[in-house]
Amino acid sequence: MSAPELGGRDGFTSKFGILCAAAGSAVGLGNIWRFPYVVGESGGAAFLLIYLGLVVLLGIPVMLSELLIGRRGQRNAFGSFRLLAPGKKWWLVGVMGIAAAFMILAFYSTIAGWTLEYLIKAFSNSFSGKSSDELGAMFQVFHTQAFRPLVWQVIFMAMTAGIILGGVRKGIEKYTKVLMPFLVVLLLIMAIRALTLPGAMGGLSFLFKPDFSEINSRVFLSALGQAFFSLSIGMGTLITYGSYINKKNNLNNIAIEVSVVDTLIAILAGVAIFPAVFAFGLDPAEGPGLIFHVLPNIFQQMPGGYFFAVIFFLLLVIAALTSSISILEVVVAYLVEELKIVRSKATLLATVAALFVGLFCTLSFGALKDVTLGSLSIFGVLDFTASNILLPLGGLFIVLFVGWYLKDSDVKDELSNGGLLKLKIYRLFRFVLRFIAPVAIAIVFMHSIGLI
Ligand code: PFF
Repeated sequence: MSAPELGGRDGFTSKFGILCAAAGSAVGLGNIWRFPYVVGESGGAAFLLIYLGLVVLLGIPVMLSELLIGRRGQRNAFGSFRLLAPGKKWWLVGVMGIAAAFMILAFYSTIAGWTLEYLIKAFSNSFSGKSSDELGAMFQVFHTQAFRPLVWQVIFMAMTAGIILGGVRKGIEKYTKVLMPFLVVLLLIMAIRALTLPGAMGGLSFLFKPDFSEINSRVFLSALGQAFFSLSIGMGTLITYGSYINKKNNLNNIAIEVSVVDTLIAILAGVAIFPAVFAFGLDPAEGPGLIFHVLPNIFQQMPGGYFFAVIFFLLLVIAALTSSISILEVVVAYLVEELKIVRSKATLLATVAALFVGLFCTLSFGALKDVTLGSLSIFGVLDFTASNILLPLGGLFIVLFVGWYLKDSDVKDELSNGGLLKLKIYRLFRFVLRFIAPVAIAIVFMHSIGLI
């Protein structure tokens, strides 16, 4: 089939804008909040090595596949599959992505709400003079109550919706182009501060010296889930963004650049956090509360701590916002293009629906903490189902779709911009998509959920 034209559709205006938007989606709480505590719980450097391997082997091919589906289809995640595979059931992958978007948005906005509270706490110098126990109690009291976390969650979702209302060029691109460079500068300042603390070496060796005795199939699954979550792949975010990319841009470079930036930033976040954790003798395996309990502790003991606390939590809010907009856009694009709802209404509808699910996530730390499935709270169930099940499954179907369903000539045509670009490792890419990626994802997945 011939490649559809961009037409009058809203879209990105520059390569820099695309990179900021896509890297903005990838770089988020996943890098700065989730990555450090998952590394901490999974034994440090050995996890990091597996993680890096998975990003190269699976992450980049899946990301490129998503971008190519989106740009070829010129529609949202659902519509692109339906257009490229008429009469077939592939659109179900899009539906799964939209379900994952709701789940992620729900628990993401819980944590993002916490970051807003902590930004205000940092501004008002609330950490100063408090002992580690007092800071632990402060976090405990805050995140288990109902009212404040919910208010912050609503405010955060309103900010997200505000940007999405503006559309792609005047919303997503405009804001991410300013926020992303700012974020990189803030993170560099934080990492330099952490590295110059006495005792920083302990943290670095935890992050970079592997101990393979820690490796088991659970670690593989959590590395796979983390890689997909962090790269924003497996649920159609990059199909949606891909549909806004001009036919002249080089998708291959975009996939590689975004993956590299995302991975570097996760490592940089580790470099900013672990040396500080070790320098002050705290526990790296603290879990989701790591940055909220451990870091304020560190800030108030270090010279210039007030300033760095504000920078850090501001960084986190920005990172969360540039990611949450990309998740909301998956749903909004679907509502606008498939159900023909106007953008403002679609944004409101999706935001309210996500907030409804999100409310349960937020309350699952307090009022609803006894509602559990196995050992997981509502929050844990949504995170596990979305990150470790839906994203890898989505990724699996996406590589199968591009590797086996789409015609080789169409894939080549899209990746080479109609023959204008030279494809250097196309055969390898194709081989990975058809054999390596599906088998690897399936093995990790089935092994970890106990099927093999
Ligand atoms: N990649 C984001 C992060 O690391 O925080 C989270 C995310 C965004 C996941 C978009 C999935 C997604 F589709």
